[in-house]
Amino acid sequence: MNEPALITARGLRKSFGPTEALRGVDLDVRRGEVLAVMGPSGSGKSTLLHCLAGVLVPDSGTVEVAGRSVSGLGEAARSRLRLTEFGFVFQFGQLLPELTAADNVGLPLLLNGTPRARARTAAGAALARLGLQDAGEKHPTELSGGQAQRVAIARALITRPKVLFADEPTGSLDSLAAENVLTAMLDLVREDGTTVVLITHDPRTAAYADREVIVRDGRIGAVVA
Ligand SMILES: Nc1ncnc2c1ncn2[C@@H]1O[C@H](COP(=O)(O)OP(=O)(O)OP(=O)(O)O)[C@@H](O)[C@H]1O
Ligand SMILES: [Mg+2]
Repeated sequence: MNEPALITARGLRKSFGPTEALRGVDLDVRRGEVLAVMGPSGSGKSTLLHCLAGVLVPDSGTVEVAGRSVSGLGEAARSRLRLTEFGFVFQFGQLLPELTAADNVGLPLLLNGTPRARARTAAGAALARLGLQDAGEKHPTELSGGQAQRVAIARALITRPKVLFADEPTGSLDSLAAENVLTAMLDLVREDGTTVVLITHDPRTAAYADREVIVRDGRIGAVVA
């Protein structure tokens, strides 16, 4: 299939002071694809994800998502794009401790201007999709690590984003919990047709992806089809 890529990155470079985190990255991610990004610590994986997602602006090079320039947008437009088109899951500390699980999940909808009652209903449904229908009134400290990551995934997917950006989403979990959370996440994204950029150190996690790329020293190394 020659469908155009959903995400197209060309010539991405990004330095932090003297550190060249990205040294010329070209990458295409197809619509609906789950792409694993692997590579050593410090190789530039998170920097790449942040550039693709419009969190960081590259020093040079371009990022397009669905034919629209991300790298060329100003701060406010990138922030709106992240809220409406992208979902994010990280390794740690992403749930707001003072909110219940359901309120954490509904937050992106409230920020989008969805009325509170509708956001609550949608949050309940999103939690149920991850097997957490009974956890909505719990606070993050009352959840296991795996449950907390499921809540974070429910929150990331509640806006039905075009792209889910996940940076070591199961990196803080033991291997059984990691596998359960990962397969739950992948079931949902495959059902919704969501495109996923998934950073992982774990080859078993990468094995669930459609394709993997290796980042080394700020460049894409070997590409495994
Ligand atoms: N905000 C920043 N300020 C200064 N240096 C940074 C910043 N972010 C990243 N770097 C540096 O850029 C390089 C790439 O970092 P990056 O976080 O992208 O690596 P990574 O592949 O995600 O590593 P890890 O697997 O440890 O998460 C590293 O040398 C890092 O120290
Ligand atoms: Mg990283």
